[in-house]
Amino acid sequence: MGKRLFIKNKNNSFKKTILVDGDKSISIRTLLLGSQAFGKTFIENILLSEDIINSINCLKKLGVKISVNKKNCFIEGKGLNGFEFKKDIILNAGNSGTFARLILGLLVKSPFYIRLIGDKSLSKRDFGRVILPLQKIGANFKVNNKKTLPLQIIGSYFTNPIHYYENRGSAQCKSTVMLAALNSPGQTVINAKKSRDHTENIFKYLGIPIMVQKKKNNDIIKIRGQKAFKSFRYKVPSDPSSCAFFIVLTLLSKNSELKIKDVNVNKSRIGYIEILNKMGAKIKIKNVKTKYGEKQADIHVKSQPSLKKINCSPRLNSNLIDEFLIIFLAAAKAKGVSSFSNLGELNKKESPRLKLGSKLLNQLGIKTKLTNNSIKIFGNPTLNLNKTLNIKNYYRDHRIFMTAVIAAFTFGGKWIINDIDSYKSSFPSFLNIIKKLGYKFKLI
Ligand code: S3P
Repeated sequence: MGKRLFIKNKNNSFKKTILVDGDKSISIRTLLLGSQAFGKTFIENILLSEDIINSINCLKKLGVKISVNKKNCFIEGKGLNGFEFKKDIILNAGNSGTFARLILGLLVKSPFYIRLIGDKSLSKRDFGRVILPLQKIGANFKVNNKKTLPLQIIGSYFTNPIHYYENRGSAQCKSTVMLAALNSPGQTVINAKKSRDHTENIFKYLGIPIMVQKKKNNDIIKIRGQKAFKSFRYKVPSDPSSCAFFIVLTLLSKNSELKIKDVNVNKSRIGYIEILNKMGAKIKIKNVKTKYGEKQADIHVKSQPSLKKINCSPRLNSNLIDEFLIIFLAAAKAKGVSSFSNLGELNKKESPRLKLGSKLLNQLGIKTKLTNNSIKIFGNPTLNLNKTLNIKNYYRDHRIFMTAVIAAFTFGGKWIINDIDSYKSSFPSFLNIIKKLGYKFKLI
């Protein structure tokens, strides 16, 4: 058995400024687009997590020359569909759902079968959601009935522009079709329920012909395919999803203050700040700048000992899809009963997160009422644990691991937390920042 994290809570307060690691969604998109550009692309502050290292290794297998020096990444793109590889290659996406789905969009013209595999968690996730539109575009698949990995894809010489209706609010599905559109003639039209819009923003930054019509709940996206674009420079901002753990830790710690610099504050990513502020936090976003079509800023947060319950509007769900676990933890410490609904998609993540988020709260002694797609959380602001909690069997989900660590430093008690390496898939500096803020833990 690998090492486990042991935490015995001691009260702590801090006043610090931190930087968190680069944004995962943007790092993956810059890599994929760098591989399709003409010339040498330079990406600064790329996230060097396991998901990204797996993504880089897969692109190398597709013949893309990539070198990494500290957090700088150089990509030699050969233009659209410029992959160069021989038969029988296997791409291992590890834990990364985003890379696994998005790369399929760039393989719609692959002349050979490519086998796509992933780790245990990724091999349970649904790929039918991207297979269906990609088949309409012209790609062919060999896949099991459940439409899970491993699968094989072979492209076709002729690909079609399609009209695609994306109704889950999934940026991965939308982006997979957008990337496939690059290699399809004519105009691809996507009518997508709102979700993070980084692919749209980077297409615009690169001069790829795209038109986006924003409606109340949906966006209509039109892309003209087969237009070459040049290599580029991009400095990746910090990941707001990683910040969320430390923002909630600050709120729930006494006499603490935290500044986080240069964070991606795209509206589609910071729904959790809106929710926390509605719960009584006073999180401030300062020094807002627009770079590469994305908003970046510094985030300032102070302790807020008395949070109130929230009734989270499902309209916001896709704007905080990766932050629900840590928001559930804030709700556990808030006064009153919080409710979250229409959350079926949360059970389709690296683990069935709605179900396991509820299990984690129950382990703490927090009452929940769970259905297939909703949860009510009965907050207990005075809960102080004096028992030992053993956190295991959570699918090695990185966000559950990090949520459990924040819970340990918030609710007291003794904690033994398994899956110690899981956080490295998205946030390799996580435990270093925990130490920097003055918290202690042991590896056992
Ligand atoms: C992502 C989109 C989200 C999110 C994932 C990253 C992206 O998934 O959960 O961590 O970069 O496009 P869905 O689009 O499937 O909701």
